[in-house]
Amino acid sequence: MNTPFQDKRVLLGVTGSIAAYKTADLASKLTQTGAQVDVILTASATQFVTPLTFQSVTGRRAYIDADLWGNEGHVQHIALGHNADLLVIAPISANTIARLAHGIADNLLTIAALAARCPLLIAPAMDGGMYSHPATQANLDVLRSRGAIVVGPAGGHLASGLTGLGRMVEPGEILGRIRLALSQGGALQRRKVVVTAGGTAEPIDLVRALTNRSSGKQGYALAQAALDLGAEVTLISAPTSLPVPAGAQLVAVTTAQEMLGAVLEAIPQADALLMAAAVADFRPTSPVSQKLKKSGGVPQITLELAPDILSAVAHIKAESGFPRVTVGFAAESQDLLDNARTKLSAKALDLIVANDISAADAGFSVDTNRVTLLDAEGNVEALPLLSKDEVARRILERIIPLMAAN
Ligand code: CTP
Repeated sequence: MNTPFQDKRVLLGVTGSIAAYKTADLASKLTQTGAQVDVILTASATQFVTPLTFQSVTGRRAYIDADLWGNEGHVQHIALGHNADLLVIAPISANTIARLAHGIADNLLTIAALAARCPLLIAPAMDGGMYSHPATQANLDVLRSRGAIVVGPAGGHLASGLTGLGRMVEPGEILGRIRLALSQGGALQRRKVVVTAGGTAEPIDLVRALTNRSSGKQGYALAQAALDLGAEVTLISAPTSLPVPAGAQLVAVTTAQEMLGAVLEAIPQADALLMAAAVADFRPTSPVSQKLKKSGGVPQITLELAPDILSAVAHIKAESGFPRVTVGFAAESQDLLDNARTKLSAKALDLIVANDISAADAGFSVDTNRVTLLDAEGNVEALPLLSKDEVARRILERIIPLMAAN
């Protein structure tokens, strides 16, 4: 299974703004994903950056107004617009926003935009006063009402020296929104997928907690893979340092109890629950609301069982049928398959993902994983060492038919 960028054609328009230099980075990142990127610069964009800048990073010709009439069978603007899977204009100036809103087509970019039948994603960049002007706001409303995806602008320092809303959002964030736009219509369209990720932390006192070494990487990769297939994703995450995939609805939690509450709220109507989080099994019985002082001596910390989230989910599923599919994870350091099988039946799972955390190249913190998938029918599939992104895609491939069946 590929990412949504693979073999997609992105038409990338660049208009006149100092933020245009950042779009070279966006074009480079997009090209590296496997997308085919055609760039059109307006005359004002060429005041800031050159076609050569973009040609150097996309490996393809970048177009300017002098290319208005091509000689490749179709006129150039029709071909560029028609062939695109997505039209991105970043940065887009107030002027180009106004032209698009009114159907004015007086340069290669606006003509291509009028000819295009694909979705439009725009990242405005302009001075604060121009952005907040009622004319610009009304024009953006027109574009939104036609389905345009408006990304940003962000707040901060503006080229005029003013501070306010008007900065183009960073290329990485635009890339995430492009990924989301290209994912629409996938195999999980309109499916609700709930993913838990990260290691919960159970307070001992005001500053200390009992936690584990889970990085959250496998859970975040699952959230991204589900988004890539067009799913609506709720990501219930214990603290991690990972960026939230664009389009995921984040529910930030810390303890097992909070995660239980968030899961129970999310699962009615959920098509799948992917329980990748490393949830605490034990928690301090009486967390102290102040910092424990050394002068008080070595504390005796007594533990109690934390709630078992998947067991609670199993009861709800038995009554309501939701979530349609439940996937658990078994991180084991010994007797991998036996322990996984026991958990599969004890927690009434449809699938369990078992991984041997004693291996250096799999499990916590690293970017790779070697897992075995066991389902409720008794099938066992041992996957080779793969990236966590690829493991996530394989897991989703396995549950698509289960979602349809349940
Ligand atoms: N899990 C859960 N609630 C807990 C602990 C774990 O829902 N309090 C989920 C995990 O998210 C995972 C699955 O149960 O999907 C298995 O977790 P694991 O820690 O491997 O198993 P435990 O049930 O904790 O059993 P054991 O301690 O015996 O390994």
